[in-house]
Amino acid sequence: MPYTLAILSGGGGVGKTTLCAALGARLAAAGRRVLVVDCCAGFRRLDMALGMESRVLFDAADAACGVCEPQRAVVRDSTRMLPDLLAAPFDADTHPDEDLWARMLSELRGGYDWIAFDAPAGTGVWSMLPARLADRAYIVLTPDDGSMRCAGRVLDCLRAEGLDRVHPPSLIVNRCDLSLMRENLQYAPGTVAQTLDAAVAGVVPEDEGLRLAYARAELDGMDSRSRIVMELDALARRTMGAPIPKGWEYTPPGARMLRLGLRGGGGASLKEVWT
Ligand SMILES: Nc1ncnc2c1ncn2[C@@H]1O[C@H](COP(=O)(O)OP(=O)(O)OP(=O)(O)O)[C@@H](O)[C@H]1O
Ligand SMILES: [Mg+2]
Repeated sequence: MPYTLAILSGGGGVGKTTLCAALGARLAAAGRRVLVVDCCAGFRRLDMALGMESRVLFDAADAACGVCEPQRAVVRDSTRMLPDLLAAPFDADTHPDEDLWARMLSELRGGYDWIAFDAPAGTGVWSMLPARLADRAYIVLTPDDGSMRCAGRVLDCLRAEGLDRVHPPSLIVNRCDLSLMRENLQYAPGTVAQTLDAAVAGVVPEDEGLRLAYARAELDGMDSRSRIVMELDALARRTMGAPIPKGWEYTPPGARMLRLGLRGGGGASLKEVWT
């Protein structure tokens, strides 16, 4: 069975689409069979991140509603190491029928090792659809007050709907900037985890290379020896069940976080946070 994940956020623009496309591209480069599903109805973007916009004939709602066979809606670029794609519908007003989407997913899942849903920000119907369809939810946020408050709202919704029972939602702390953390202008990942009472699955640095690769639809061309790619690879493996490697253990508050050199803060030991 594939790993199925919903990539959610409270506030917008925190990096969901970037991470969905980048993690998908890294796993595809590693030989995994990968599908990414854009659920941002009315705000299709993932196709552009993958450079596939000219190939889209049908969208995910067409596949779910039987306008075409699900396989026919899947967009592929066999010339590049990229995930397969189901594009978002342009019509944002229709409410998705969860049963139809679940049936579509069941028809496609046998062909993949990893399926990720790129959700719109917030807790609307199109945001909660992926959370209901996927086995695990990841909430992307940036380490600041506003983003944390909004992420907390999503966590509350998931918990209220009982979507945290099998796999508690995890956090991906994106756009971490060491210099801002040193000046206490961004929270340390341990503080984020402790404040939201959720595990941190990944800490992704602010990275110009990632921003440009996303803007240029060149996520498959990133330097595999760069730090950002190593972080993405580690996070991608973790979304497939890999444990937190020993090197990622955090020492008690105030001590250095090994991989990124960030300071643990807020009284939380990140080693505790991840157990
Ligand atoms: N780690 C990062 N380093 C640098 N830039 C980043 C990083 N993550 C995301 N970005 C940039 O932030 C911007 C917003 O990212 P993205 O579109 O992925 O956010 P989103 O959460 O999908 O937004 P929306 O809520 O509108 O769907 C993009 O320009 C992207 O390149
Ligand atoms: Mg997006």
